[in-house]
Amino acid sequence: MEKKVILSGIQATGDLHLGNYIGAMKNFVKMQEDYDCYYMIANLHALTVRRNPNELKQNALKVLATYIAVGIDPDKSTIFLQSQVHEHAELGWVLDCYTYMGELSRMTQYKDKSSKHADNINAGLFTYPSLMAGDILLYQADLVPTGEDQKQHVELTRDIAERFNKLYGETFKIPEPYIPKIGARIMGLQDPTSKMSKSSTLPNDTILLIDTPEEILKKVKKAVTDSEGIVKYDEKNKPGISNLMEIYGIINNKTMEEIEKEFEGEGYGTFKVAVAESIIKELDPFRKKYNELMANPKNLEEIYNKGAKKAQEVASKTLKDVYDKIGIIR
Ligand code: TYM
Repeated sequence: MEKKVILSGIQATGDLHLGNYIGAMKNFVKMQEDYDCYYMIANLHALTVRRNPNELKQNALKVLATYIAVGIDPDKSTIFLQSQVHEHAELGWVLDCYTYMGELSRMTQYKDKSSKHADNINAGLFTYPSLMAGDILLYQADLVPTGEDQKQHVELTRDIAERFNKLYGETFKIPEPYIPKIGARIMGLQDPTSKMSKSSTLPNDTILLIDTPEEILKKVKKAVTDSEGIVKYDEKNKPGISNLMEIYGIINNKTMEEIEKEFEGEGYGTFKVAVAESIIKELDPFRKKYNELMANPKNLEEIYNKGAKKAQEVASKTLKDVYDKIGIIR
């Protein structure tokens, strides 16, 4: 039986954080055993915010090294740069013409990002979800593993694909979002009502995967909690503690009830140290591998070139079908 297909991607924004790891990459690694996986480095998507060109190049390599260092095996999964497979930009444009302004203006990420970058609300920021739909549909993906914040984009992808199929006949597989029940929205440690993000301006809010054990311990110890002093899962009233519980639960494969029992009668101090130690242990092999990979860019280049070739074989077939159906001479 043919394996089901997975596609997901992460923007080339450089140093990734614990939210990216728990919400997305941990599942990427798990799923590579049972699925035919395509993991992309979304460097074209990263252009919606002004970036230094050298940094953007370096950031793409950082995401690639992160993928491999967390355990994605380039011999099992296809890892590639979005920019090397020109079909993404092409299908993205085509799908722009099958996506409505009203749909795009309802996207919460667009609303968030345009309020954060009020001086640069460019058209790319607005049409970003059509490019993302192209990423997914080119590979006829069955499943798209992401954190909670990308669910709306995957749902829009389904609508666009259904619309296109209705007009031209079966062309795209309709993808399903794959969002973990726990850990799909890791919150900031200083502001547990906002998702953990690289762009947070609060110090100690975000744990980067490359943070040292000392930095991780310091950040978790400073995490905002509440005054109740009881380790109990209650997202609404105890967002800080609930967030730490999710992190601890995912890493140690424990339910929220099990964690409540484990820390019954213990204060937050003991719990925070246990959380920090779990993160440190989980990320320990990562740091070493990541540094080794980044020290050898030739090896990374070989990996992304090989991945792009394989990705393009699939993507070009879909794009050919689309062009034939809509009447575009190639
Ligand atoms: P990006 O680069 O913002 O985030 C990468 C992945 O990390 C997840 N994530 C989180 N999960 C839990 N808690 C958090 N605090 C957290 N922050 C980020 C995101 O949900 C995502 O899964 N548009 C996408 C990139 C993309 C893509 C695609 C994804 C481009 N094309 C095609 C899937 C399929 C993005 O900006 O993710």
